[in-house]
Amino acid sequence: IKHLRSAADLDAETATLILDTAGEMAALSGREVKKLPALRGRTVVNLFYEDSTRTRISFEAAAKRLSADVINFSAKGSSVSKGESLKDTALTLQAMGADAVVIRHSASGAPHRLAGWVDGSVVNAGDGTHEHPTQALLDAYTMRSRLGRLDGLKVSIVGDVLHSRVARSNVLLLTTLGAQVTVVGPPTLIPLDVAAALSEKTQVSYDLDSVLPDSDVVMMLRVQTERMQDSYFPSAREYSRRYGLDVPRLKRLPEHAIVMHPGPMNRGMEIAPEVADSPRSTIVEQVANGVSVRMAVLYLLLGGK
Ligand code: CP
Repeated sequence: IKHLRSAADLDAETATLILDTAGEMAALSGREVKKLPALRGRTVVNLFYEDSTRTRISFEAAAKRLSADVINFSAKGSSVSKGESLKDTALTLQAMGADAVVIRHSASGAPHRLAGWVDGSVVNAGDGTHEHPTQALLDAYTMRSRLGRLDGLKVSIVGDVLHSRVARSNVLLLTTLGAQVTVVGPPTLIPLDVAAALSEKTQVSYDLDSVLPDSDVVMMLRVQTERMQDSYFPSAREYSRRYGLDVPRLKRLPEHAIVMHPGPMNRGMEIAPEVADSPRSTIVEQVANGVSVRMAVLYLLLGGK
């Protein structure tokens, strides 16, 4: 494939190749190989129109470990504030010879538009409420390395499904790889049209306590208050009581089950601090795995040597 705009771009074979390649990248890093020459002479542009900590830094680290030249562009402080369009920004990057453009944008579909304007590969680093495919890949990698398989794994994705690009990409990728996914949350955050669309691939539940004992993985989602109207979200305390993962709920999980969160977290709202910091939590591991997975994505898209 040339671009990674959606988890739907990946069939099972390609997704597995990315996860296996990420494993090789991680093994090399573990053997103290700090830098590989695979993308020497290639240029990766990180084009971030929305804030990010993990994704931006890990794409930068991934490209640098593969010896690519990296240009970091953030909309703040650029000519975007003078009204320059995404297309004109893209053409400027194209003129500077970008081999890959990693884009985060508040508009769903921005990576698809960008791919029509630049010659290089486009990687979606999160577009609006639409998708975040490399997050899904690093999540799948983490599940596979902790639990040994994805096929048949029971994964519950919990919380603000309506606004979650992480949930959408995970549903697509995990079901492609054979996992059984259940999305869980309040009816206001999984409204009927969203539930109907998701029900083609997943189970939908509004009762967290009933799904916990049968989950191998519980993935908590950030409550995205910045994207909400009041009607979606009556009160933080009520939300936490019904859908927050606290210590009593952690005890309802099978012993082998893991707890995930893509970050950034609202500690005390969707996840209790004791749960986030518990040995069952893979939250820090997910961040570390993100570098290996993004190395694999850049390496495979750019045909690294
Ligand atoms: N998980 C994730 O996308 O985090 P950032 O917003 O910090 O990149």
